[in-house]
Amino acid sequence: MHDLDEVPVGRDLRADIDHILVSEEELNAKISEMGRQLAKDYADKDLILIGVLKGAIMFIVDLARAIELPLTLDFMAVASYGASTKTSGIVRILKDLDSSIEGKHVLIVEDIIDSGLTLNYILETLQTRNPASIRVCSLLSKPARRRVDVPIDYICFEIPDEFVVGYGLDFNQIYRNLPFVGVLKPELYTEPAEHKPASANEEI
Ligand code: IMP
Ligand code: MG
Repeated sequence: MHDLDEVPVGRDLRADIDHILVSEEELNAKISEMGRQLAKDYADKDLILIGVLKGAIMFIVDLARAIELPLTLDFMAVASYGASTKTSGIVRILKDLDSSIEGKHVLIVEDIIDSGLTLNYILETLQTRNPASIRVCSLLSKPARRRVDVPIDYICFEIPDEFVVGYGLDFNQIYRNLPFVGVLKPELYTEPAEHKPASANEEI
C-alpha cells in the first residue's frame, strides 16, 4: 500500500492555463455527434482512420469509439524540415503507414489545422497511393492562420488565433494529457515574432 501523502506531487499543469477554450464536456458532446455523422457517411464503406501522431492521439481514440462501424486504424508521424520556428511546408515522414490504403476510404484524423502546410503535404502523399476516397477530420481549425487552401471535410471546433494545449496538443511535448483544450499563459512562451513556439514544429 502506498501512502498517497508520500507521493511527490508534480507541478500543477492547470496553473499554466490562462483559460479553457473547449471543455471536457464540449469535447465529449461534439465527438459523439461527429462519430454519428461519420457512421452515416461511411456506412458500407471500407473505412480506415489515419491518425497523425502525436497530436491526434486523444482525438482518434475517442472518435474511433464514437463511430459504430467496422473500421481499421493506422498512424503516421511527420515533422517539418529543419527546426525552424516556422512551418516550412516541407514535411518529413518519421513513421509511415503500416498497411496499404489502395481502394480504401481514408479519413485523416488531425489535432489542428493551422497554416495547412502539413496537411497539404500529407494529402498529396496519400493521394498517390490510390485510395478510393480521402477526407480530413480535424478536432480544431485556426482559419485565420491558413496559408494554403486545404479541404477540411469535418471540423469539430474553429478557434481563434491563440496557442492552445491539451487533449493531445503540446508545448515542449507536455500538456498533452490535459482533458480539455486550453490557452497557455502567454508568459510561458516567449517568441516575439512568430506566434507558434519552436517546439510545436519539431514533432507534429
Ligand atoms: P500546420 O502545418 O501549420 O497546419 O501545422 C499544424 C501542426 O502544428 C499541428 O498538427 C500541431 O501539431 C501544430 N500546432 C499548430 N497550432 C498549434 C497550437 O495552437 N498548439 C499546439 N500545436 C499546434
Ligand atoms: Mg498534428
